[in-house]
Amino acid sequence: MSLVLALETSCDETSAAVVADGRLVRSSLIASQVDIHCRYGGVVPEVAARRHLEAFLPVVDQALAEAGVDPAELDALAVTVGPGLAGALVVGVAAASALALAWEKPLVTVNHIEAHAYAAFLEPADQPAGGADDGQTQQGEPCPPLVVLVVSGGHTSLAELRRHVEFRLLGETRDDAAGEAFDKVARHFGLGYPGGPVIDRLAAGGDPEAYALPRPMLDRDGLDFSFSGLKTAAINLSREAERRGEELKLPDLAASFQAAVIDVLIAKSFQALEQTGHRRLAVTGGVAANRALRQALAERAAAKGVELVMPAPRYCTDNAAMVAGMAHYLLAHTTLGSRLPLRVNPALSLGGRQRARGRRRAASTKPDLRTPWE
Ligand code: KG4
Ligand code: ZN
Repeated sequence: MSLVLALETSCDETSAAVVADGRLVRSSLIASQVDIHCRYGGVVPEVAARRHLEAFLPVVDQALAEAGVDPAELDALAVTVGPGLAGALVVGVAAASALALAWEKPLVTVNHIEAHAYAAFLEPADQPAGGADDGQTQQGEPCPPLVVLVVSGGHTSLAELRRHVEFRLLGETRDDAAGEAFDKVARHFGLGYPGGPVIDRLAAGGDPEAYALPRPMLDRDGLDFSFSGLKTAAINLSREAERRGEELKLPDLAASFQAAVIDVLIAKSFQALEQTGHRRLAVTGGVAANRALRQALAERAAAKGVELVMPAPRYCTDNAAMVAGMAHYLLAHTTLGSRLPLRVNPALSLGGRQRARGRRRAASTKPDLRTPWE
């Protein structure tokens, strides 16, 4: 058995969790900063870093207390080293390094996007996996080989997980991440931050066919995405309506925009299944909490005989349980050891590649080209 305590501070959630064997969540604590950042319509990096500093110790203490675990019982600590906001990552990495030194435990460094994929393997201790209460969608045993779609505010990545911790990137967004498009459309229409949950709720009362919006990249081969043009098309609808002297119906706009995103995500995911020959699909990341996406995926998977795994919504958005979960598999399947001091890697990509250009989360940071193990 392995018992891992993980810390996750890559964006605006300070999270700590204790997970047994990469699956069983003994505790999962999240101190969210959303109330602070929503005033600015997005995450303010400097504010996020300071808040992490204030929050991490109480969150770690509570995670250990709720799990009923003494630090001496831990097999390892784990921490997210990238991608994410540089200052926010530094706080988590410094905190985890200090705890690992003090408690004389190994420290496992985890890629945030890959950790999102490992949320698919979590099983909340209090509720049975796939139970109606926890909202997890799970058909069959979630294990590799599988195709995984990580769809969040910072990333939209399709990958193949052939064996544990061996990711092969199949496609990613060329511009905005899907969640980023949700956030920007919501901000334009004054709906608040984060935009995904608001659009999700509004769309439930709207007509997804009310407004014609593009389905970017569907006419092209390849598994890359692009959501910037779709976002602009949705925003432009308000200008066109204004010109015509009409009032835009926000629930219809939300439903039409959401339907376009969902169509693209599903089409590319099933194209990836066809290309790889795998019959199992995991969909994770903040946007995977979207109710219409979950329903549409479940229907398509059932029709195509594909096993679908979607974490409970609370494990789709950022959390440390997924980081602790992945750390178990890294300990079991790699010989990589981390030496202190660790370096953060704000522009890390799924599969470990460095991004060519910094995107949303790395807009003002120079990538650190050394991996933590060098
Ligand atoms: O995974 P996450 O917590 O952080 C990142 O790694 O980015 O994802 C946050 C993103 C935000 O863009 C948010 O608007 C989106 O996930 N999101 C949703 C929903 N809940 C969160 N998007 C659509 N529908 C939702 N229900
Ligand atoms: Zn995330």
